[in-house]
Amino acid sequence: MKNFIYDVPTKILFGEGQVSNVGKEVKKYASRVLLLYGKNSIKKNGLYDEVLKRLTDENIEVIELSGVDPNPRIETVREGADLCRRYKLDLILAVGGGSTIDCAKGIAAQTKYHGDIWQDLCVDKKFHLLTEALPIASILTLAATGSEMNGNSVLSNPNENLKLGFGSYILRPVFSILDPVYTFTVNKYQTAAGVVDIMSHLFEQYFSPDKKGYLQARIMEGLLKTVIHYGPIAYENPTDYEARANIMWASSLSLNGLTSSGKESTDWATHQIEHELSAKYDITHGIGLGILTPYWMEYVLDKENVHRFVDYANNVWGIFEDDDFEVARKVIQKTREFFNSLDVPSTLAEVDIDSSKLEEMAAGATRLGPIGTMKKLEFKDVLEILSSAL
Ligand code: NZQ
Ligand code: ZN
Repeated sequence: MKNFIYDVPTKILFGEGQVSNVGKEVKKYASRVLLLYGKNSIKKNGLYDEVLKRLTDENIEVIELSGVDPNPRIETVREGADLCRRYKLDLILAVGGGSTIDCAKGIAAQTKYHGDIWQDLCVDKKFHLLTEALPIASILTLAATGSEMNGNSVLSNPNENLKLGFGSYILRPVFSILDPVYTFTVNKYQTAAGVVDIMSHLFEQYFSPDKKGYLQARIMEGLLKTVIHYGPIAYENPTDYEARANIMWASSLSLNGLTSSGKESTDWATHQIEHELSAKYDITHGIGLGILTPYWMEYVLDKENVHRFVDYANNVWGIFEDDDFEVARKVIQKTREFFNSLDVPSTLAEVDIDSSKLEEMAAGATRLGPIGTMKKLEFKDVLEILSSAL
């Protein structure tokens, strides 16, 4: 196992009723906050009123910014940073899914940064230039990205047709509140997309050329089994607390460093290709991943890595056969069928993506060089994966 430092500073308040603590928690860091949220969901399910009441009870001054888009925009980040500077705010409270939390991280970074975070961090990847940020905290309303417990942010710039990520330890939320009850209102489509996203985060770390990583693989198999078990239950019965709770905690544990620390390598090619789909077609992240993942698996499978697929088949799905490649093919098909059972499509055509931008997307995904580690993918490989997904 590789050496590592595991240091996740995010305090988690998990469970029904935990939102009542938001005022007291915020008070530890701030007396003036930016309350950041998306469109209407938190007003419809009563969370907005509850949060505002708890903040006012603690005499916390609140400036609001709403309307964060799924695939959050750099323009919203700039608008938020202007508000934070103008009103001298001390903390950003993101109430929503990954898009709102990612947007909060962008604002936290841009507020304290003299240059342009889009150019310097997202495009040029000069992460070391970011030395200061406003603290952020979150109330998670959609289980998917793990943004509630990590330092990553993915932002979109529609003018440039780009969706790019950046990350920093200093952007990890100081606390996150995870109340599964507030995910009861997540619709079937977003529930399915969230389940696929969590599974994809695990696949990106599980499928790697790493010969070691035994413990990490077993933790990930447990998380995969949990999401595979509870995903369809939450999909069918949105108010099943146990299902929502298991999926919610699995989302945080799947992308907070727990499953990658000590591993020699991870992959992340499917995410890079998906970000091109979202950038060019503004599609839902988890849906793009659900389409691409089985095609990526089929493309990278070879005799060097077939043992990974066999582990996944045996330990997650209980699929056993004599021939390793037969097992691998079966488990890839099983994965595709599982996604389909949640009404996640299998082809790009089903989400109205045709062949016109495949080359542009393949070039975008590999703009900094080959991607992935299971198999290093160059432009032509990504193009082939995208073409097979059509
Ligand atoms: O805007 P509102 O009204 O809140 O509606 C949202 C939005 O339309 C709705 N929603 C959220 N909570 C709800 C709810 N509807 C009803 N009840 C609730 N409780 O769901 C829609 C999607 O929300 P969004 O935040 O976009 O979803 P998600 O959490 O899947 O975030 C996706 C974004 O995160 C990025 C993705 O690329 C994408 O931009 N990612 C961030 C990562 C990270 N920071 O580590 C890693 C991921 O791989 C991913 O790339
Ligand atoms: Zn993801």
